[in-house]
Amino acid sequence: MTARALDPGSWEVLLARAAEAWGGSAEGARLFFAPGRVNLFGAHLDYSGGPVLPGAIDRGTLVVGRPRDDGRLTLGTTLDARRFDGRLGALPKGPAGAWFDYPVGALAALVGGRALAEGQGLDLFFGGDLPVGAGLSSSASISVVTALAADALLGLGAGRLSWVAAALAGERGFVGVQCGIMDPHAVGHARPGHLLWLDCKDGTWEHVPLDPERAAYLVFDTGVQRELAKGEFNLRVAQCEQAFRALAPYQPGASCLRDIRAETLEREGHRLDPIVRSRALHAVQEVERTFAARRHLEAGDLVAAGRLMFEAHASLRDLYEVSVPELDHLVALLEVEAGCFGARLTGAGFGGCVVALVEPGRVAELGARVAEGFQERFGRRAPFEAFAGDAGPRELSLAP
Ligand code: GLA
Repeated sequence: MTARALDPGSWEVLLARAAEAWGGSAEGARLFFAPGRVNLFGAHLDYSGGPVLPGAIDRGTLVVGRPRDDGRLTLGTTLDARRFDGRLGALPKGPAGAWFDYPVGALAALVGGRALAEGQGLDLFFGGDLPVGAGLSSSASISVVTALAADALLGLGAGRLSWVAAALAGERGFVGVQCGIMDPHAVGHARPGHLLWLDCKDGTWEHVPLDPERAAYLVFDTGVQRELAKGEFNLRVAQCEQAFRALAPYQPGASCLRDIRAETLEREGHRLDPIVRSRALHAVQEVERTFAARRHLEAGDLVAAGRLMFEAHASLRDLYEVSVPELDHLVALLEVEAGCFGARLTGAGFGGCVVALVEPGRVAELGARVAEGFQERFGRRAPFEAFAGDAGPRELSLAP
């Protein structure tokens, strides 16, 4: 993992790279940031209408941007040589299979349908320090920061709810991942010292306190790229829909899988294909765990809340089948560490990161021991780092 997001050096470098891409000068540029997130409770529940409890982290996506008056849109990044060059008023209709599909998708959702003034365009150049494709929501982070920057630079007055909606619509409608609503909400509505309780059935949210003095997020990166993630993710979404359609007639009033009760699944589960039944069992039990986690957090019982993270991981491994041996090994090593409340894979799975809730004073020794245990088994290091919470998407000052 790399340097910290808000290290002043990182935006200076970004500004210099943007100036280079823009023909020598970054005059008139403004700087924006959106965080990434870890998902602590409510694993693979958002698209089934369940409750989730993610938390934003102090690592994310930075973008420098400036308005143009010739109608063009240019997109660049420090992470990839490919650039986008097109017209803001005539965006592509489908993805190019490139990193810029996310910002283009968010822009299409935010700007499409609004009357732009003659010649309005944008230069945007992205950077930051969120590992991409590691389960820390780099896609929602880049999408939300794009919408925020475009809103500010074009003077749209759209606001935070629109950034979240544009990020979601872009990823679903343009990039083509049938993701749930969790990630853009977690990024968009972040508050320091809090997790976001998001009810994905009705879209309402509240903030639940998590005292940073008592628990830090310790994240280990398996380094396993999530090759299968998109196809397998969409398959899980389809399996949950299938389970809901089959069980809905036996659960009056149910409008999504989250509404199916454990006893209904037990009684009627024989109607489902065994794999689909396992997926549904994970969802139904994870809904119960997430409500319980909220109660434990509100009572300040981090031990009980953390235990539910270990249980969720076992369920993701055995019932939902979205884990890999590297994730399982890290969680097993963390489970025997005093000072670790809980741990599980974060994000979609199939590789990426493990998130652990850890006593802040024990981060360094505990992290080193677990990383060593990983190395013994897999012959390479699992980089780890502790994150704090974050205040959400915002403009940052470019003044020295
Ligand atoms: C990915 C998706 C989210 C959510 C998680 C699993 O991060 O983008 O919407 O479904 O997986 O909890």
